[in-house]
Amino acid sequence: MSAMKIIAIDGPAGSGKSTVAKAVASRLGLPYLDTGAMYRAVAFAALRRSVDLTAADALAALAEQLDIHVAERVVVDGEDATDAIRGPAVTRAVSAIAATPPVRAEMVRRQQAWAREQGGGVVEGRDIGTVVFPEADLKVYLIADEDERLRRRARESGDEVAQDIARRDQADTSRAVSPMMAAPDALIIDTTGRAVADIVEEVLSRL
Ligand code: DC
Repeated sequence: MSAMKIIAIDGPAGSGKSTVAKAVASRLGLPYLDTGAMYRAVAFAALRRSVDLTAADALAALAEQLDIHVAERVVVDGEDATDAIRGPAVTRAVSAIAATPPVRAEMVRRQQAWAREQGGGVVEGRDIGTVVFPEADLKVYLIADEDERLRRRARESGDEVAQDIARRDQADTSRAVSPMMAAPDALIIDTTGRAVADIVEEVLSRL
């Protein structure tokens, strides 16, 4: 038995995960981890080093030796990649990275180690409630209407167009390993047209 509190927040791009996860973490005084940023960090390094995105062994080796620090800033092998990981090149490459089984295995190991070191936290991603922390204290799966998700993404990263987001969602949902899906015991919240504060209250009320 462990006393560590884990809150898993999953869902597709633009569902409101980051906003809700950060607010919940702040309200509970828990640390927050953006696991998407970790996959983006690997994609950033792979592009930087011209690693073949279809070469699973090379990607696995890269993921294992890469120094990734995800907090307010995202630092990859000593380089601040906070802005670069949100750019179009990384966004286009990241689904291939996230579909590579040994890369996922390494990221999952690191995410579990992070939680042990921190003594718990609010963790957002695609497979947190299903694979990384199946014993989480609370699992939340956020959804939102397509139009609203597109509007949110356009605000955050003006360069990701509707077609790209649809392609990324399709890739994330249909990949063989750890596809994006709600855990059977997840609380599913439709964030369309709802205020962040209201969603945060709903999440906190389930703890
Ligand atoms: O949340 P995001 O858009 O920054 O995530 C980037 C990509 O990483 C996304 O297309 C899917 C992948 N991802 C994943 O497969 N598993 C996670 N736990 C988090 C992100």
